[in-house]
Amino acid sequence: MAQLWGGRFTKETDDLVYRFNQSLPFDRRFLEQDIRGSRAHAAMLAAAGIISAEEGEAIRKGLDGILSDVKSGALVPEGDWEDVHSFVEANLTERIGDAGKKLHTGRSRNDQVALDMRLYIRDELDGTSELLLELLKTILRVMEDNRDTFMPGFTHLQKAQPVTLAHHMGAYFEMFRRDTERLASIRGRMNVCPLGSGALAGTTYPLDRGMTAELLGFDRPCDNSMDGVSDRDYVLEFLSALSIVMVHLSRLSEEIIIWNANEYRFIELDDTYATGSSIMPQKKNPDIAELIRGKTGRVYGAMNALFTVMKGLPLAYNKDMQEDKELTFDAIDTVKGCVRLMTGMLSASSFNKERMEESARQGFSNATDAADYLVRKGVPFRDAHGIIGRLVLTCIERGVSLDDLPLPEYRKECAAFDEDIYEAISLKTCVERRLTKGAPGDMENELGACREWLRDFAGRVRP
Ligand code: ARG
Repeated sequence: MAQLWGGRFTKETDDLVYRFNQSLPFDRRFLEQDIRGSRAHAAMLAAAGIISAEEGEAIRKGLDGILSDVKSGALVPEGDWEDVHSFVEANLTERIGDAGKKLHTGRSRNDQVALDMRLYIRDELDGTSELLLELLKTILRVMEDNRDTFMPGFTHLQKAQPVTLAHHMGAYFEMFRRDTERLASIRGRMNVCPLGSGALAGTTYPLDRGMTAELLGFDRPCDNSMDGVSDRDYVLEFLSALSIVMVHLSRLSEEIIIWNANEYRFIELDDTYATGSSIMPQKKNPDIAELIRGKTGRVYGAMNALFTVMKGLPLAYNKDMQEDKELTFDAIDTVKGCVRLMTGMLSASSFNKERMEESARQGFSNATDAADYLVRKGVPFRDAHGIIGRLVLTCIERGVSLDDLPLPEYRKECAAFDEDIYEAISLKTCVERRLTKGAPGDMENELGACREWLRDFAGRVRP
């Protein structure tokens, strides 16, 4: 057992209690952030004259030594230490002597862990945004390559109206664009520094909280020290945003699974992103898409768990909050992995344009356009709807599509039909006529807007 406290105790902690309480096995994940925070705290202590300049410098060098040793593998953050904070402080004191014992002046592990978690989440939030930007670029590429790939658009998983693959994928572009913007807005709200909140009520030392906030890239120090140590809203927001990313990934996965089904064959998964069966030699399974869909549950689970942990906590710090870590780390790893895999799977897959177009031709996805044709000839829409409905029935009886139904059959239902009906209900016309903003015929404008957003957003996050 190795801990930073014990003066007022007369007995050793029970071994099981010690293990139950210990967080080093998982909070060592933010050792780098812990050191960054301690460097800033020490620099501020020296600048404010709370420790000497020499002590400040010794602490800085010691902390840098710990970080480079951990990176090289010479030092492994494990063993009996209660948490990463104790591990770093003890190791520092071993290296530089008494100056190491001064690092914790005016600080508590409560504001220290609040800072570490915030720095860590901020880094991971940026990392997740970068991965989402890669996914968005890939989706844009698929859109650009498939401007003329006609396919049925579905409602109720029934063929509804013809669209293009570019338009269909454009909907996913919007979803992941909102995810990226959501992360950016969380970042803006969370970028306040809790360091200097102390255990809960600040300190009597003349800390310069503005200095540490600035050194660590925060917009400002937090306004209330009790909130500073107990706020985990940003973790809840991050887990909520990650859950929404997973909703989107899972919906896209579901479509890939359907498109890969024998009956559809819209997509050909690359061999590198598919799996086989141990017994059925013919199988090429979409396991990756299924796993992404399945892993969505764990991310919602993490979000639900933390909401439940937080809901009854009185102010200020409570040890329950240590539970924010493992589940958040797991959610982050899961989401980043899934975004990467979706990007790879989409780039490596090919789309079966002929099958998609053929599918759009069958199933009367141009029936609305046939009705609109009659409207243009002066027939009221409700009547046109009935006429085309009866013609669809005729087609079903004969096993043909509207494109193949002879003109006399059309005329039997309504004299307004002419030879130009065939051109009016061709897939190309159906798509190109839909010029409303955001519709499949408006694709060039949509593509331009997507490209522009990517350029501007990437510029904003990496100035
Ligand atoms: N491991 C703790 C956590 O994750 C660090 C803070 C401990 N503070 C305390 N007063 N016990 O929350």
